Amino acid sequence: MLSTCFGSACKKKKNATTGLKTKICGMELASPIGLAAGFDKNADVFNATLSLGFGFVEVGTITPNPQTGNPKPRLFRLPDEEALINKMGFNNKGMLYVSKNARKPKLGIVGVNIGANAKSINKVLDYTSVFECLAHLFDYVTINVSSPNTKNLRDLQKPELLEKILKNVKSINVSLKSPVPIFIKIAPDLYKNNIIEILNVCEENGVSGLIATNTTISSKTLKKPTSFEGGLSGKPLFKPSNNILRLLAKKKNASTALIGVGGIFSATDIYEKIKMGASAVQIYTSFVYNGPRHVKKMEVELKKLLLNDGYSTIDSAVGALLR
Ligand SMILES: Cc1cc2nc3c(=O)[nH]c(=O)nc-3n(C[C@H](O)[C@H](O)[C@H](O)COP(=O)(O)O)c2cc1C
Repeated sequence: MLSTCFGSACKKKKNATTGLKTKICGMELASPIGLAAGFDKNADVFNATLSLGFGFVEVGTITPNPQTGNPKPRLFRLPDEEALINKMGFNNKGMLYVSKNARKPKLGIVGVNIGANAKSINKVLDYTSVFECLAHLFDYVTINVSSPNTKNLRDLQKPELLEKILKNVKSINVSLKSPVPIFIKIAPDLYKNNIIEILNVCEENGVSGLIATNTTISSKTLKKPTSFEGGLSGKPLFKPSNNILRLLAKKKNASTALIGVGGIFSATDIYEKIKMGASAVQIYTSFVYNGPRHVKKMEVELKKLLLNDGYSTIDSAVGALLR
């Protein structure tokens, strides 16, 4: 990092082009800003969203069988809080439908987020089925064990269950012609010791990275706390998700990658997560509030922030606050 630089050396650095191209787990991203899971549930529009400036998109969550999700209404805006509450419940057309869409040429990095059916009698095996069907068609796979909208799904974050899921998918992954990076997406509503346990299981079972975090079930960070059913995203999630990210960044092995998600509304928010240890980030709620130009606008701002601090790459800023 060139935090203090003087004279011509400094000018030279500042004139150098700061690009947003970066790499995570061997994947080359045009930008570190990704679209979080839940927007393109069935992999119908990944090329359209990539063309809005996203460096990568995550489709899903996909379950083995199609399901309609929870009854409507199931998505609510809280404009004063810059937040959303959703209780969608993995509405999706199932893995076979998605496997057809996934064969289309892709304009960038596309990951798939996988989950279990609400009525499944063996949720652990659902992950194996979707992984087997879809992993080879995408650039990476995210194991979603953190949605609050499928009963008992978050219990799969318990070490013994998570380990079973990981062992199953890993055995398929190693047999693929090109094994894919595997990420685990975790909840923000976890105690410190749970997070360390999850991290340990991930690192012992060949997980490439963690995505922190999914939506929260807590109303604690709302300006006007009210009880609700479902998952809260947007501004009130920024701090809780950062708390998890910071802890993971401190405790993880150097080779474990982190993707920061939760409450990002600006380039400053992105930069904070990057400096905390995220190699890439994802957004959802601010995209809903701010529309399609939001991503490219934040990219311009992010470049300025990096340049101001003398960073010529994203990578050089990752974890700066830990050093
Ligand atoms: C309407 C809606 C649907 C979502 N569906 C999923 C999903 O299917 N799978 C998943 O892993 N996360 C899902 N999420 C969570 C987001 O991917 C993200 O983790 C969360 O919204 C926090 O980011 P944000 O504050 O930028 O929105 C959903 C979020 C929203 C608002």
